[in-house]
Amino acid sequence: MAKIALMTGTVYGSALEVASQLQQRLVGLGHQAQLFYPAKLNEVRQFDADHWLIVTSTTGQGDIPDDLLPFFLQVNNEFPLLTGKSWGIVALGDSSYGDTFCGAGRQWRELLLQLNGNEIAEMLCIDATETLLPEQPSLAWLHQHYQHLTL
Ligand SMILES: Cc1cc2nc3c(=O)[nH]c(=O)nc-3n(C[C@H](O)[C@H](O)[C@H](O)COP(=O)(O)O)c2cc1C
Repeated sequence: MAKIALMTGTVYGSALEVASQLQQRLVGLGHQAQLFYPAKLNEVRQFDADHWLIVTSTTGQGDIPDDLLPFFLQVNNEFPLLTGKSWGIVALGDSSYGDTFCGAGRQWRELLLQLNGNEIAEMLCIDATETLLPEQPSLAWLHQHYQHLTL
């Protein structure tokens, strides 16, 4: 069992819906999982999670949604090391945006890679041109990588 903090960013609500379903499923798998929305670093720190799960859509041109950007900037400024902890990312995007496909997820990945934690699995990048139900690939990915997570 792990203590998992989920942080999400959305424009139209899909990523929030995905994060909420993942949180429920993680609890069902026996983890202690809490969704922080909108995420604030002091609250996430207080929770003292073993694992951070970022669920973000992309807006603008590869940009992080407004409701997740303050948290991203806080993490970037305060650099809370995740040594001994792990993290994962579910990114929602649309491949018709070309080079900026899943850009918010990729920005998060670049930042988290610098915080010393362990990346639990390859970032899941969900293409809106391929699936209308992002919950489905997200839950499949979760089952594959989080069933036996201890930290
Ligand atoms: C104005 C706008 C800009 C977008 N820019 C990008 C982008 O740069 N890269 C990308 O992969 N997806 C982009 N998308 C697609 C969204 O990330 C995708 O539709 C996602 O599923 C929306 O999730 P949400 O409902 O959580 O906001 C954009 C969508 C909109 C409406």
